[in-house]
Amino acid sequence: MFDAVQLATRGSARVLVLAHFKGEKLDPDSRKLDPTGHAACAAERPEATGETGTVVDAFPEKGHDRVLVVGLGEKDDFSPAAVRSAAAAVGRALAKAKADSAEIAIHHAIARLPKSAKVDMHACASAAGEGLGMIAWNYDTLRGSATTKKDRTKLSVHCDDAKFRAGLSRGLGLAEGTNIARTLSQTPPNIATPAYLASEAKKMARKAGLKCTVYQGKQLEDHKFTGLINVGKASENKPCMIRLEYTPARGKSKDPLVLVGKTMTYDSGGLSIKVGGGMKGMKRDKDGGCAVFGAMHAIATTIKPNRPVVALLMCAENSISDEAYRPDDVIEFRNGVTVEVTNTDAEGRLVLADGLTWACAKESPAAIIDMATLTGGVVVALGSVYAGMWCDDDDLRAKLDQAADASDERVWRLPHHAEYRSMMKSPIADIVNSAPVREAHPIQGAAFLSYFVEKNIPWAHIDIAGTHATDKDKGCFIPGPTGFGARLLAEAVERF
Ligand code: BES
Ligand code: ZN
Ligand code: ZN
Repeated sequence: MFDAVQLATRGSARVLVLAHFKGEKLDPDSRKLDPTGHAACAAERPEATGETGTVVDAFPEKGHDRVLVVGLGEKDDFSPAAVRSAAAAVGRALAKAKADSAEIAIHHAIARLPKSAKVDMHACASAAGEGLGMIAWNYDTLRGSATTKKDRTKLSVHCDDAKFRAGLSRGLGLAEGTNIARTLSQTPPNIATPAYLASEAKKMARKAGLKCTVYQGKQLEDHKFTGLINVGKASENKPCMIRLEYTPARGKSKDPLVLVGKTMTYDSGGLSIKVGGGMKGMKRDKDGGCAVFGAMHAIATTIKPNRPVVALLMCAENSISDEAYRPDDVIEFRNGVTVEVTNTDAEGRLVLADGLTWACAKESPAAIIDMATLTGGVVVALGSVYAGMWCDDDDLRAKLDQAADASDERVWRLPHHAEYRSMMKSPIADIVNSAPVREAHPIQGAAFLSYFVEKNIPWAHIDIAGTHATDKDKGCFIPGPTGFGARLLAEAVERF
């Protein structure tokens, strides 16, 4: 939609953006901003229903060139999520109008809600920034000479309320992290190889003030990264682990939170090759890692928590050659657990196992959160509405639930149980990477991972296979990657 969205530091805007609730007229403070009365009239037109994201416009003869009045939905079930959707709708309308500047004044309507509604204005402002920032995302990089490029403008966002402005700035920062994740997800597998991601990580780290170390080649053997080595064996594009580290100005000595991302730059299934249409779109099998990457950007530039955060991106391409790992291979991991490979398409859990054992042994983690497009089964179970979450630690789970509420990146708890762990037993090694039965597929994935996390360490596994992409042109999204997880993780980290 836009080239970029930024908070303006001076000047005035050509378009004014006001808000109202379903069935309500413009509030007096909003009305004052357009003394011609055109905006107030527009808000009473029949099409100005006030439904979340309904936008009507007015053209006053003085003051602003245009006024947009956006609906925030029912007063009674108002939440920051409504602001996020409304802001995305405003972004779409501004792009259509080819606007290059907008004065956001929707807080006047929100401020009229009664005290009992317990409105968190900062969260509303952040959601507005997220909506505006996320709707700006596009991916034109690979359009060639046969396409006429869309000319896109930059949007300057103005706001004269200092508090709302601070929230907008936070939201724009979170949106930037999300958009970084989306851009990486969208980048095709012949470009976005593990080495490419490592070089992008180094660039991002330099700009954002993070430390970045890449483990590759012999270092993978030295540190016994069994999953990365085996899954990545068949590809010319060699595997690596990217380690990003955020160190706070204060609170350096606390134990870090560790974020682990499945970053499969392509998942062909390996020798257990994906058939039918199953392979198309598997460039997005890196989206767990992309979300972690985007979250680290937002953490370093916007959230700035008082606790260290470490990110481990487990990067490999699951390909096919005479060197490929095979069904029947038995491999041993750093923590001594042996795995009989029964299906080379259950590769994500193998690279995550390296990340989890590394985190436990080397990072002294306060908690570990892993994020992965792990199973087709989670899509069957939860669709694109919730990501699957496995977390038996009450405190970590509460923080993730709050983060999910704040970001509207929803997670639904699924169970761990000793019986699921038993399903993973192998007749010749400790465990198999895929059980012979299809039942409880996403839970099998979580059960497998549990063999690689030390018992006393709080841990959450989040399966985003259903939420990482969308085919809908709706709200903050256009068809393609959603960047799901970047905001969820950043919000979670802020709560530690
Ligand atoms: N990358 C896939 C999971 C996936 C499916 C992601 C659909 C996004 C959309 C994963 O590596 C995989 O192939 N999983 C198999 C596991 C099975 C072989 C045990 C699956 O879910 O079918
Ligand atoms: Zn797979
Ligand atoms: Zn995969």
